[in-house]
Amino acid sequence: MLERIKQLTEEISTLRAGNPEEAELLRLKYLSKKGLVSVLFDEFRNVPAGQKKEIGRLLNQLKNATQDKIESLKAGFEGGKEATGPGADLSRPASHVKPGTRHPLSIVRNEITRIFGQLGYTVAEGPEIEDDWHNFSALNFPPEHPARDMQDTFFIEKNPDILLRTHTSSVQIRTMETEKPPIRKIFPGRVFRNEAISARAHCIFHQVEGLYVDKNVSFMDLKQTLLYFAREMFGESTRIRLRPSFFPFTEPSGELDISCNICGGKGCNICKYTGWVEILGCGMVDPAVLDNCRIDSKIYTGFAFGMGIERITLLKYQVRDLRLFFENDLRFLKQFTGTI
Ligand code: PHE
Repeated sequence: MLERIKQLTEEISTLRAGNPEEAELLRLKYLSKKGLVSVLFDEFRNVPAGQKKEIGRLLNQLKNATQDKIESLKAGFEGGKEATGPGADLSRPASHVKPGTRHPLSIVRNEITRIFGQLGYTVAEGPEIEDDWHNFSALNFPPEHPARDMQDTFFIEKNPDILLRTHTSSVQIRTMETEKPPIRKIFPGRVFRNEAISARAHCIFHQVEGLYVDKNVSFMDLKQTLLYFAREMFGESTRIRLRPSFFPFTEPSGELDISCNICGGKGCNICKYTGWVEILGCGMVDPAVLDNCRIDSKIYTGFAFGMGIERITLLKYQVRDLRLFFENDLRFLKQFTGTI
C-alpha cells in the first residue's frame, strides 16, 4: 500500500495535459469512483489498525495533490487564468489565444482609403450629431426643399436644428470652412437615415465621400479619378459609365455605374441583367457651396463623390444581405480574413 501511494504521488506530479479534454480524462483516470486513487481508499479498510493513521494521512495527501494538479491543469486552459501553486506546470505551452479578424466593412474602408491615398487624398472625420447648416443648408438644400426628403432624417429630440448626419458631406463643409484649397480629402464615417431595414437598406450605414478643390479642377479629373478607383477596387478590366443625376450640392451631378464585377457585364441577377451596377454619386461642387464656405468660386472649382461602404462590400464579396454586417456572427465575419 505504502509503495503504491509513493508511486502514484510521483506519477501525479509529472502529469501533463495538452487540452481540457485530456485534463478531464486524467481526472477520470485517478479520481473517478474506480479511479487509481479512489480504489486505494477502498483498500484502506484492509490496512492493519496500527498503520491506519499514517497511511490515512498519506492517502489524503495524495488525493489532495491529485485534485490540485488536475485543477491547475484545467485552469491553464481557461482564458486569462494562470496555473499557479506548487503543482503548476510552467513548461506547458501557453493557452491558445485566437486573434480577432477585421470586420469586412473595415477591410473595405481601409482599401478605399489606401486607393485614394495613392492619389494624394488624406482622411478627415467629423461629428455624427450635426446641425442643419453642415448637413443641409450649406450644401444648398433650401429650407422646406423636397430634396431634404431624399434623406429621411433622424432629428434629436424636438430641435430640428440638431440631427444625426445623413451623409458625410457635412464633413466636406467643415473642411472647406477651415481649410484653403488645394483640398484633397476623403471622409469615411457612419451615417443615419430613417429607412426600413431590409436586405438592401439599413438605417445605419457607412459612407466614404471625397472632395477635391483647386484651380482648374474639371469633370475630366473627376471621371479619371473614379475610373482609377473602380479599377483598383474591382479589377483592371472594370469599365465605368456616368449617368446624369441630381444632388443639391453638385452641378452637374452624376451617378457612377461599373461593369458588373460578377458576370463581367454579360448580365446576371446582381446587375438585373443590365451588365451595370451603381456604386456612387458624384458631381462638380456647386459654386454656391464653395461660396457658403468662403472659398471664392470664381477662382476655384472642385468635384465631390460619395459611396456607401456596405454597397461596395456587397459587390466585392457578393454578400446577399447587408444585415449580416451588423449581426456580428463570427461564422460570417471570419470568412474575410486575409481577403485584401
Ligand atoms: N452625399 C450624397 C449622398 O449621401 C453623395 C454624394 C456626395 C453625391 C458627393 C455627390 C457628391 O447621397
